[in-house]
Amino acid sequence: MPGLAQEVRRLDAQRNPIVPPTPHPSGGRPPTLPTEAKPRHTAIVMDGNGRWATSRGLPRSDGHRAGGEALADVVHGALEIGLPHLTVYAFSTENWKRPADELNALMDEIPQRLRRLANDTAPLNVRLRWAGVRGPLPADVVAALTDAEHATRDRTGLTLTLCVNYGGRAEIAAAAANIARDAAAGRIDPGSVCEHAFARYLHVPELPDVDLLLRTGGDQRTSNFLPWQATCAELLFLDTPWSDMDRRDLWHAMEEYARRIRRCGSIPRIPAQPTSPTGPR
Ligand code: FPP
Repeated sequence: MPGLAQEVRRLDAQRNPIVPPTPHPSGGRPPTLPTEAKPRHTAIVMDGNGRWATSRGLPRSDGHRAGGEALADVVHGALEIGLPHLTVYAFSTENWKRPADELNALMDEIPQRLRRLANDTAPLNVRLRWAGVRGPLPADVVAALTDAEHATRDRTGLTLTLCVNYGGRAEIAAAAANIARDAAAGRIDPGSVCEHAFARYLHVPELPDVDLLLRTGGDQRTSNFLPWQATCAELLFLDTPWSDMDRRDLWHAMEEYARRIRRCGSIPRIPAQPTSPTGPR
């Protein structure tokens, strides 16, 4: 059986031209927002899968599977609206505290979903990145993540960054330790360490600042997600569990972002008015 990288490269070779994403079955279309009013980077805490499943009398693992489907649809919506960066919190370093059967289900779902994302998005030009550490991740999950990164590295459309075994404080601490190591070895001048230089030591150095940080599932906290990158992000908390989300919710969130007045320490810009609302869900 060919490896993921080989399989995806073969599909990429057949990609001519890049095809548009499949429209949502409802016929919904993305709102037209001025470029300057759109977030360049949206990051999502995909919360509420477990409660979604429990409220239906299903095992929590079914909620994560439905969450994987929701992610696939949101990726299509991100492409349709022209979002360059989407980052999702798929598994935090704190999630290891969950029961073994749920962990096993997640460790099955993540590589399977990755494989499907890498294959299904081949004609759509989606690049996959991984932010996180190996730690106790099973070898096949690490292989799926690194293969997907490698196989999609030449794609130039949406960058989808998957935070798997990710913790924000640990990311910053590891960056500081590596800077200290490089300084001690004489590879860098400690006096040259500024914010820009520091960011080069993060898991995905090219990841831009987060403009919009969305959390589903009703809780209102950021849970150690991208503390370095999201210092100025607009926060949006939705009651909808992640498993129930689709691309129209992403578009609504982006419309809400466009209405926010973002000062970022400066003077306000005039919030944008969408020209074609996506309509109610
Ligand atoms: C949080 O909901 C969700 C997770 C810990 C897992 C999310 C993972 C996926 C949707 C799979 C995605 C796959 C890839 C490749 C990115 P929760 O279980 O904490 O929900 P609860 O708060 O209702 O208990």
